[in-house]
Amino acid sequence: MWGMIATWRMALEGVTKGAGMLEQGKNAGDAVEAAIREVEDFPYYKSVGYGGLPNEEMEVELDAAYMDGDTLSIGAVAAIKDYANPVSIARRLSSESVNNVLVGEGAEKFAHKEGFERKNMLTDRAKAFYRKRKKEVAQQELKPYSGHDTVGMVCLDNDGKVTAATSTSGLFMKKKGRVGDSPIAGSGFYADSKVGGASATGLGEDLMKGCISYEIVRLMKEGLHPQEACERAVRFLDAELKERRGKAGDLSLIAMNKEGQWGVATNIEGFSFAVAVEGKKPAVYLVKPGEDGHCTFEEASKEWMDDYMKTRMAPVEE
Ligand code: GLY
Repeated sequence: MWGMIATWRMALEGVTKGAGMLEQGKNAGDAVEAAIREVEDFPYYKSVGYGGLPNEEMEVELDAAYMDGDTLSIGAVAAIKDYANPVSIARRLSSESVNNVLVGEGAEKFAHKEGFERKNMLTDRAKAFYRKRKKEVAQQELKPYSGHDTVGMVCLDNDGKVTAATSTSGLFMKKKGRVGDSPIAGSGFYADSKVGGASATGLGEDLMKGCISYEIVRLMKEGLHPQEACERAVRFLDAELKERRGKAGDLSLIAMNKEGQWGVATNIEGFSFAVAVEGKKPAVYLVKPGEDGHCTFEEASKEWMDDYMKTRMAPVEE
């Protein structure tokens, strides 16, 4: 049995590519890396890789991670600039015995030494979004933080290996050096081939408060189905945050267990995800959170899919 699940519609092309690889017997490490690279390379996704939106100093700082569920090896980069595929650098770091998580200049130095592709990740389109947002913030005192759509994936191959990986430009207009949940093991991602894996998207600052990806894997280890594990973890963290802090940020999670069963949960409207398992074509689903924390989902219609791409590729009106 093989399978792959990922946050947001933007992961569909990557999941399709990864699923093809898994079908041909490739391993979950190669498949998840290739799938995330697909998202990183697409210039119209403004929260991941090339075309990602910049920090408040108009620099694109990227976070990414990779975890191998067989060995529990982890690699991650944070606040890295000017490299095309942070997920590949993260994966390479996961094979080191120490120095597995590198930030900023240190991550860039490592990537340079290892021969990773350098690229100016700031596109004209991202600059236009930046100017537009600057104007809006100045005029209406809008909060600058929004649009934090991390791509997070969990992958299972035919040999039973589970991997997880993430990639993001983080919060739009974030402070220079800000690190979200995506490169933090247990928060943005976790994988254990004996159990399964999970990955998160949403407000990193809040996702980290619950180490929520690890919590989902822990619940699956106790025997919960991935759907039940995701719902329970999201419902609990959402309630804790509201009780203790008066509000909860966006929390959206995906998970898959070692049998290829999967689950998702969110506390927001509008969360989508892509999934492919052996014997089923890759598809995108839209999630509806219920009052009781129980989430339902339905496959995205052709109209929704067409509209999604149209919106992503529409000119930026400044
Ligand atoms: N979840 C992505 C971030 O907060 O950076």
